[in-house]
Order: sequence, then structure tokens, then C-alpha cells
Amino acid sequence: MVDKIEAIRKEVEEIKAETLAKVEDFRLKYLSKKGILSSLMEEFRTVPAEQKRELGQKLNQLKMFVTDRYNALKENAGNANSTDISSIDLTRTSTPMPVGSRHPISIVRNDILKIFSDMGFTVAEGPEIEDDWHVFSSLNFPADHPARDMQDTFFISRNPIDVLLRTHTSSVQTRTMEKNQPPIRIVCPGRVYRNEAISARAHCFFHQVEGLYIDKNVSFADLRQVLLNFARQMFGPETKIRLRPSYFPFTEPSAEMDISCDICGGKGCPFCKETGWVEILGCGMVDPNVLKACGIDPEVYSGYAFGMGIERITNLKYKVKDLRMFSENDVRFLSEFESAR
Ligand code: PHE
Repeated sequence: MVDKIEAIRKEVEEIKAETLAKVEDFRLKYLSKKGILSSLMEEFRTVPAEQKRELGQKLNQLKMFVTDRYNALKENAGNANSTDISSIDLTRTSTPMPVGSRHPISIVRNDILKIFSDMGFTVAEGPEIEDDWHVFSSLNFPADHPARDMQDTFFISRNPIDVLLRTHTSSVQTRTMEKNQPPIRIVCPGRVYRNEAISARAHCFFHQVEGLYIDKNVSFADLRQVLLNFARQMFGPETKIRLRPSYFPFTEPSAEMDISCDICGGKGCPFCKETGWVEILGCGMVDPNVLKACGIDPEVYSGYAFGMGIERITNLKYKVKDLRMFSENDVRFLSEFESAR
């Protein structure tokens, strides 16, 4: 039996099993219940008692040897399989990887900025945390104007000066006028904050693009033409505009601009509340007091300003019913816009 054990050891030592299938054959032949080692164990029972000690040891060593060998072969075959280039199909198409898409507000903001940059406007940006001067005082807001009230404005501190979250990007216009002399022709995109209860129609933050043009001899007719051009590029060449008198502290005269409803083509429908028109922005001629506050001579220069909400423009273009969708970051909603273009 000693010879037999030695012969099996030699045999096993020389076995090469390169594939997992061959390794399995090895296991069946030597290590399974009906395998060679099991039958050796059977045989072992019948050997005379005085040989048992020595043989038992040898048998155990053989079993350990075969098991080790089996494990080593198995590992080898597994590794070989995973690195074997011939088993990789290089022509197979890969699993598609999900790619992100731009946020609808970014898409529409870029569209707006492109239209104005084609008309010679450059982009100006400023801080979201502002002071009273740049958001209100320099813009001719009377000291007791309701927009300064706690209900509309998020104040960060009130002492020694009011520090607040900007309620409009007109503050960027002030900052630009303070640092530059005309001609100034800028558009100011950015996030603004107002203390409103969050609902489908209002949010405590939203996004604006405001515009400012200051030069010699700028007239209301210039403003109207620029806005008409914008409306037609944004909403289609048939779009009509109408300007209604309005009030803003920083412009005089002031107006609100409507575009013809693109759902009913101006005939009247529930979307435009049967009027045929939908409001899209505020505008006007910059008040001389604002120019003065920013160090620009109102006797020499005049200018216009306008401001619009990006969410509003996006809603008109894509008919989003609930404003909250814009900040919930549901990819199913967000991914609809890039492909809709
Ligand atoms: N700042 C105004 C707002 O936030 C918009 C506006 C800008 C109106 C410029 C007129 C001129 O509502």
C-alpha cells in the first residue's frame, strides 16, 4: 500500500489541468466519494493493526497533498480563463452607459444669453449675498418700499448694514455701472431669492436674466426693437409683443412686456386666460437717479433695462406645470429637455 500511495502522489504531481473542466475531472477522479482516495480509505480499514499508524499518517499526507494540488489547479484555471484574450469578443457592442443632460434652466439660460450676445451684449455676474445699497438703495427704492420688507427679502444680518440674498440681478447692473463708464451693454444671469411660500407657482428662489444698455441717445424705441428681436428668436418669427405701462423704482417710464400666446396664436385660451397674451418680462428706461447713484451723468447718458425669469420663459416654451420640478432633480424630468430640442 505504501508503494500505491507513492505512485498516486507522483501521478497527481504531474497532472496538468488548464481548464476548469479538467480540474473538475481531477476532483472526480481523486477526491469524490467514489474517487481514488476514498477507495484507499476503504482499503486502509483492512490493513493489520501494527501498520495502521504509519499508513494512516501517509494516507493523511497524501490527502492533504491532493487537496492542495486541486486548489492550486483550480485557481490557475480560473485566472487563465479571465485573462485569456481569445475568449473576449472585441466586436461585441458595449452596454450603453447612461449620460447626463443639461438642466432645463441652463438650456434656456444659454439660449437667452446667445440671443443677446448676438446683439452685442456681454455677460456680467455678481454675488448672491448682497448689501442693501446694491439691491435697493442705489436702484432708487424708497426707504419704506415693501420689497425691502421681511416678507420678500431674506436678510442675513441687519447690523451694522443690511446683508441679504439678492432679490433680483439688477444688483449686478449697479456694480457694473459703478466700475465702468458707458457704453455699457450687459446681460446678468443668476439665481435670486424671495421669501415666498413654495407651491406649484412660486418658489423661494428662481433664476433671472436682466439686461442693461447705457450710452448716448438710447431711446425707448431701441428697447422695444431689442425685445421684439429677442421674442421672435425665442418663441418663433410670428410672435407679437405688446408693452403695458407699469412701475419699477429704477426705471421711468416702466413697462411690462407680453407676447402673443403661442398655444392659441392670440385667439384666447385657458393658458393665456382668454386674453391672447402672456406676460414675460419687465423693462423701462433707467431712472436718472440710478445713473447718478452709480456715478454716471444722466445729462449725457441714457439707457434701458429689462429683466425676466428663466423659469417663466422655460414654462412658456415647454409647458412645465409645477415650478418645484426644476429643483427636485428627478432625472426622468431633467432628461426630457435636451432630447426635445
Ligand atoms: N428687477 C425687476 C424684477 O426683478 C425686473 C426689471 C429689470 C424690471 C429691469 C425693469 C427693468 O422684477
